[in-house]
Amino acid sequence: MLYSSLLVLALQSGLSITGKRGLDNSAIAKKYFGNDAPWYQDRIAYFECSDPQITDVWYYRWKIFRAHQRDLGAKGYISTEFLDDVGWQLQPWASLNDATGFHIGEGRWNRDRRFKDDYLRHMLTGGDDRHFTDYIMDSVWGSYLVDNDVPSATQYLDQMKTLFNAWKDHFDTSKGLYWVEPLLDATEYTISSIDASGGQDGFTGGDSFRPSVNSYMYANAKAIAKLAGLLNQADVTADYNARAAAIKSNVQKSLWNSTFSHFIDRYKVDNDYVNYWDFIRGRELVGVLPWTFDLPDNSSEYASSWKHVLNSNELAGPKGLRTVEPSYQYYMKQYRYEGSRPECQWNGPVWPFQTTQALLAMSNLLDHYQQSVVTNADYIRNLKQYTQLHYQGSSSTLNLQEDYYPDTGEAIVGLARSPHYFHSGYIDLIMTGLVGIRPRADDFIEINPLITSAITYFRVEQAPYHGTNVAVQWDADGSRYGQGAGLRVERDGVVIATSPTLKRLVVPYQKKAIIGINRPIAKSIQLQSNTNYPKGTASSGTDVENVHDAIDGRVWFFPELVNGWNSDANSATNQWYTIDFGSATQISRAELAFFDNGNDFRAPTAYSIQVLSNGNWVDIGGQQKSAVVANGITNVQFTSTSVSQVRLAMTQPSGKRTRLVEVKYF
Ligand SMILES: *[C@@H]1O[C@H](CO)[C@@H](O)[C@H](O)[C@H]1NC(C)=O
Ligand SMILES: *[C@@H]1O[C@H](CO)[C@@H](O)[C@H](O)[C@H]1NC(C)=O
Repeated sequence: MLYSSLLVLALQSGLSITGKRGLDNSAIAKKYFGNDAPWYQDRIAYFECSDPQITDVWYYRWKIFRAHQRDLGAKGYISTEFLDDVGWQLQPWASLNDATGFHIGEGRWNRDRRFKDDYLRHMLTGGDDRHFTDYIMDSVWGSYLVDNDVPSATQYLDQMKTLFNAWKDHFDTSKGLYWVEPLLDATEYTISSIDASGGQDGFTGGDSFRPSVNSYMYANAKAIAKLAGLLNQADVTADYNARAAAIKSNVQKSLWNSTFSHFIDRYKVDNDYVNYWDFIRGRELVGVLPWTFDLPDNSSEYASSWKHVLNSNELAGPKGLRTVEPSYQYYMKQYRYEGSRPECQWNGPVWPFQTTQALLAMSNLLDHYQQSVVTNADYIRNLKQYTQLHYQGSSSTLNLQEDYYPDTGEAIVGLARSPHYFHSGYIDLIMTGLVGIRPRADDFIEINPLITSAITYFRVEQAPYHGTNVAVQWDADGSRYGQGAGLRVERDGVVIATSPTLKRLVVPYQKKAIIGINRPIAKSIQLQSNTNYPKGTASSGTDVENVHDAIDGRVWFFPELVNGWNSDANSATNQWYTIDFGSATQISRAELAFFDNGNDFRAPTAYSIQVLSNGNWVDIGGQQKSAVVANGITNVQFTSTSVSQVRLAMTQPSGKRTRLVEVKYF
C-alpha cells in the first residue's frame, strides 16, 4: 500500500526511483572484464537474469564483440569474423560479409555507435564484396530502429540500391527467385551441394533456390523501401515494396514443400545427379529463415514447419538445433579435413550462426504470429541450449567456436583460427527475445518478454533506445529488486511504465536528440605487414609478422590466440618498440595494451615514450603516465609533438617476456 502510493507519487513527479537499486555497473564491469573494464564501462548494456549462465554468456559476448573490433586507423572500426587473418578475407581490411547481420545486431545495443556506424560505412562503400549472401540493408534498418538516426541510416541508400541490383546475377527471372551455391551462402555441404556431387563431396557446387538468400533479399528490399520512406522517396518505396512482395509470393508458392511441410531448396543446377527445379530430399534448418525476416503469412500450414524444429528425431538435437535432419543419407558424414581436424560442414552440425537466426525467427513467431506450435518454454529451452554451447565441453571456460556435434555439444573444428568466433549473435537475442524490446520507428517503446516462470527475474539497463538509456526489469515476486513484483520500464532512470503481471507494454517514448559520434583516429595502424608506413621495429622478436602484430589494429587478451609483439625469451631487461610514420606526424597521446598470463608473459615494470633528438632517444616532453595495467589499456599523454618516429621503451621483469598486444598513437 505504502509502496504503491510512493510509486504513483514518483511517477507523477517524474522523479527517479531507480535509486541505488539498479545494477552496480562498475562492479560488474570489473568482475567480468578485469583491467579492461574501462573499455566496456560506459559502452555496453548491462544485464542479469535468474539464470547465471545466460548472465555470464551475455558478458562473454561483449568480450567477443570488443575483441573483434578491428581498428583500421583513418577508416575507423570494422567487426571481424575470425580474430586473426584467414585466407579468404577481404584484404587489406580482413572483413567478411556473411556474419555482418550478427555484428550489427549486437553493435546496435552498444551505446558507442561508432562501431556499427564505421562498419556499415566500410561495408556499403566497398567492403561488401558479395563474397557471401547477406542482409546488410535489413541490418541498417534494424540499427535505425534502435538509434533513430535518420542521416546515418539513409546516407548510403544509393549504394544499397546498387548492391541490391548487383544480385541480379543470381536471379532467375523465369522463377522470380534468387539462387546461390551453398558455399557462397556460408553453408558448405548442405543437401543441395552434396547431392549435386552424387554424394562424393559438396564443398562447392549445388546451386539452388534457397530459403536463405530469398529471405535475405526480401528483407533487403523491405529495408530499402522503408529507408527511402524516411527521405520521402515514394517511388523508390513503391518499387522496392513491389520487389519484396514478389519475392515473398514466389517463396511461398515455390519453396514451400507440403510433403515435408517446410520451406526447402529447389535445384538451379542440372547435372547427372540432380535436376533443375526439383526439390532437395530433406528438411534443413535454413527452412525457418523466412520467419527471421517476417516473410511468411500467418497460416497454420506454414506454422506446422516448426513441429520439425521441435521434434528430437528431426531438427531438435539433444544439444542444439541440427542443420540437417538425421534421416538424410549423408547426415554428419565428414568430407573435409584440415590435417586431421574435421573442417566446417553444414550437413547436420549445430551452427551458432543458424541457431541465432532460428531463435530470432522463433521470437518473431511468438511475438507477432498467430500460431499454436511454439511456446515461450520452447524458446527459453533453445536459448539455454545455445547458451551452453558457449562453454568448452563440460568445463566452465567460455570459448565459442564454429560448429558443434548435435549429440554431445562438443566443438567440431577446433583449429587455431577457431576460438572466440564472431559468426553469430546473442546480445540481440536477449534484448529482443528474453527481455523482449521490439524496436520501433515511431515514438513508442514496445516490450514483450518471452519468458516462462523459470526466469524469476531479469534486468537490463543502460541500453540505448532512441537517444536515451532504457532499463527493463522483471521481478516475479518482488524479492530481487525490492521494488514490487512485476515488469517495469525506466527511461533515463525514470520509471515510465509498470505492470504487476507479465504482458506486452507499449509506452509512448519521445526520442531524444542524438549525440554525435566521437571518432579519435589512431595514426599508427599498419593493416598488413608488407605495407610501407607506419612500420614497426623492435629490440627483439624481430620476425616481420610478430612486429606487425602490435600495430595491426587488433586488441584482445584471450590467452587461446596469440596477439601482439612478443619479445624473445631470455631477452634483455630493456626492450623497445619503434614506429616509423614515414613523415612528420602530430601525436599527443598513446594507448598501450600489455598482456599478462601470470606465467612467462608479464607487463613491463616501467615504460616511457621517446623521440629522437640529435640521434639519441630521449623521453618525449610532458608525459603523464598512468600506472601500467596488464590485460587492459595503459594510457599516456604528452605534449603534442610532431615526430616521424616514436619509441616505446619498456623495462621487462627479469626472466620474463613482454607481449605488446597493441600500441596506438593519436
Ligand atoms: C517435396 O519434395 C520431394 C522431393 O524431396 C518431392 O518428392 C515431393 O513431391 C515434394 N512435394 C511436393 C508437394 O511438391
Ligand atoms: C499475423 O497476425 C498477427 C495478429 O493478427 C499480426 O499482428 C501480424 O502482423 C500478422 N503477420 C503477418 C506476417 O501477416
